[in-house]
Order: sequence, then C-alpha cells, then structure tokens
Amino acid sequence: MDILDIIRKRRSIREYKKDMPKDTEIEKILESGRWAPSGLNNQPWRFLVIKEKGKKDGLGKFTKPEYADTIRNAPVVLIVCMDNADSYNRDKDLMAIGACIENILLTAHTTGIATCWMGEIINQKEKLAKYLKFDEDLEIMAVIALGYSDEDIAEGCRKPLSGLMIE
Ligand SMILES: Cc1cc2nc3c(=O)[nH]c(=O)nc-3n(C[C@H](O)[C@H](O)[C@H](O)COP(=O)(O)O)c2cc1C
Repeated sequence: MDILDIIRKRRSIREYKKDMPKDTEIEKILESGRWAPSGLNNQPWRFLVIKEKGKKDGLGKFTKPEYADTIRNAPVVLIVCMDNADSYNRDKDLMAIGACIENILLTAHTTGIATCWMGEIINQKEKLAKYLKFDEDLEIMAVIALGYSDEDIAEGCRKPLSGLMIE
C-alpha cells in the first residue's frame, strides 16, 4: 500500500474486539517504534506492555470517564515513556518520542491492529508513574490502546494544505 494511503487511512479507534493481538504483532509494532529517528540517535523511548485486566482497570482512574473505557477494554495498553537519564535536549527528545509513537500507530495499522493515542491521561502522569512503580527517570509520554477494531472505520478529517501554508 502507498505510504500516503496508510497515513490517511489510520484512525483512532476506541472500541476493540476481545481477541488478544499476537505477541509477534506487538513485537513488530514496538520494533517500528525502536527504529524512529532521534537527536544524536539517543533513542530516549521506553515501553511497557500491559495486558493484565486488573492493571488496565487501575489505569482508567487516571483519565476522564469517557476515555477510561477505551483503556480498560483494549486488549493491550502500551505505555511510552521518555527516559530522562538518556535525554540530551528536552524539545528534541519530545519530538523523537512523537516520531516513535507515529511509527507505532502506522505499523499497528498496517498489521491490522487498531490504536488510540490517549493523551488526556498524562495530565496525571506523576500519579500514574507511582501506580506503575516507575523509576523516577521514566516520564510517561503517552498511553496507547491497541486491539482489533470493533468499529466501522470513519473518514478522517484534516485542514486543507492551502490553509497550512505560511505566507
Ligand atoms: C497527543 C494526542 C493526544 C490524544 N489524546 C486522546 C485522548 O486522551 N483520548 C482520545 O480518545 N483520543 C485522543 N487522541 C486521538 C485524537 O483525538 C485523534 O488523533 C484526532 O481526533 C484525529 O483522529 P484520527 O486519529 O482518527 O485521525 C489523541 C491524539 C494525540 C496525537
């Protein structure tokens, strides 16, 4: 498939079937995150894969109720962190983590696995890190829900390119 089609057709999905993605699929998705570019090639991303129901249920209390269900019902929840011990420039490291996350979303999409990048939850990232018993160098950047889609895929919507050009 053309890369632009892949990018355009990826959607945030919030309803998942109960089936668990295969470990090989999850590994492929993480592998694509690992191959993101980063300043000085410092690779500041770290990953935690959560499948355990009790732990996923617990995550839900750190976000708004309307987002909690997506996290609780996703077969897999991926936590993407920045390792501040490996950070050399915060702005650039944040951009690298964004590139890593986009690789993850796109590779999941081409593997037939739906995702939703859950950002609201990081408003409580300190409490969440305590709940997950993370070392203090690990800063939570995103929570990504993953699973096989149980939604009809909707058309995406973006501003026209002409409206994005600086004059
Ligand atoms: C940084 C970031 C934070 C987001 N946070 C949430 C969130 O907390 N809950 C949610 O349901 N979707 C969240 N999303 C998904 C966006 O709502 C979605 O990407 C946007 O509406 C465009 O839709 P699409 O991904 O289907 O193209 C987030 C996306 C990004 C990039």
